[in-house]
Amino acid sequence: MIAMSHAFAKPLSARPSGPLRGRITVPGDKSISHRSLMLGALAIGETRVSGLLESADVLATAGAMRGFGASVERGRDGVWRIHGLGTGGLLEPHGVLDFGNAGTGVRLAIGIAGAHPFASTFIGDASLSRRPMGRVLEPLRDMGAEVIARAGDLLPISIRGADPMSPINYRVPVPSAQVKSAVLLAGVNIEGVTTVVEPIATRDHTERMLRGFGADIVSMRDEAGVTTIRLVGRPELKPQEITVPGDPSSAAFLIVAGLLVEGSEVTVENVLLNPARTGLIATLRDMGADLEVENERLSGGEAIGDIRVRASRLRAVSVPAERAPSMIDEYPVLAVAAAFATGTTTMDGLEELRVKESDRLAAVARGLEANGVACREGAATLVVQGGRVRGGGRVSTHLDHRIAMSFLVMGLAAERPVTVDDTGMIGTSFPSFVELLSGLGADLADGAQAA
Ligand code: S3P
Repeated sequence: MIAMSHAFAKPLSARPSGPLRGRITVPGDKSISHRSLMLGALAIGETRVSGLLESADVLATAGAMRGFGASVERGRDGVWRIHGLGTGGLLEPHGVLDFGNAGTGVRLAIGIAGAHPFASTFIGDASLSRRPMGRVLEPLRDMGAEVIARAGDLLPISIRGADPMSPINYRVPVPSAQVKSAVLLAGVNIEGVTTVVEPIATRDHTERMLRGFGADIVSMRDEAGVTTIRLVGRPELKPQEITVPGDPSSAAFLIVAGLLVEGSEVTVENVLLNPARTGLIATLRDMGADLEVENERLSGGEAIGDIRVRASRLRAVSVPAERAPSMIDEYPVLAVAAAFATGTTTMDGLEELRVKESDRLAAVARGLEANGVACREGAATLVVQGGRVRGGGRVSTHLDHRIAMSFLVMGLAAERPVTVDDTGMIGTSFPSFVELLSGLGADLADGAQAA
């Protein structure tokens, strides 16, 4: 499996580039795209989704919802139409559900499947098969589901819901929107009130969207910042008309590229600005970035806006641990920004980076070192010595799209080109990344020669 992925690896080099300029839009938000398909499958009638992220991860979720009996089709107009089967109406899949590289997709779908009294089996690629699934299996077992998993609660996993299941009161042990969402999505098909207590707030798309689809769900945050979410089970979910805003986690790469490459001015339009997703914007501003949010507005209950950046001299910051959930996917590209900043940047509260598509903390540290940037990797911290970025390194991406994109951004502003060993995985979240970046003026070239 590993050898195969090497045989088909697509290395790419990013070279020091002239100014990046332009107005662009990035593809739809990955979190909202997965949830649109899932909630559409749980509603009766036709849900229409515009701007769905058509990436490998989201297409895996579309395939799984078809596996559960929903009809999920893309019209020639680019609008996705989902005909759902209603709460409790999903059918036992005939085959295994292959989620590829998609952590969010598989964890949320396990939540849905675990509350249905039939067997579903989930598989994934080499990266997903190393990622912890116990965090979603434990609450589902508490609710009554029966699970067969590989040692350590790893994929492949088979799950069968009990009939009936018991609603639970669950305190999420790690700050994870995926765990919270898996419990809530299971709770949709369980009679009674499912309660999730979140000591540290994470992205709230599941709660907002369940409410939008007509579920009775309330969230309350106390003075200590602890959020309690209560969902009344077995709602009748009503089909919705959804426009997916641009993914801030994809916009992040273009924003940082615009800040780092001398003379650049880049505007990314229609970006989701949900406060649980804007930690990178706050951090870049703390670093002195010339960054404006323009045309802020509401779309489908979410704040969106256009983000305009101009190349800036950045200074080092200490990123507080509390900010981690609101920028959890943005640390790799923040580390690249920190490498160019004046001074030493400290990032804390990074334990979750160890269990992403790769061990991102280690992958980032090795990538920085390969390019002459001094850094220190702690158990849950990263300290980056900013200043000169020599470049010239070859970065191991470990099947991780965000590692690949982050180090390509580095190469545009470093003294020498930076090569990433594979770009195939970029298609899991941002298939048009290379094309968009080149369109802004980035100098990208086949990395096969640049060993
Ligand atoms: C996501 C939650 C985050 C994030 C992932 C998407 C979601 O994971 O890293 O890319 O859509 O719920 P965790 O909740 O596990 O931190």
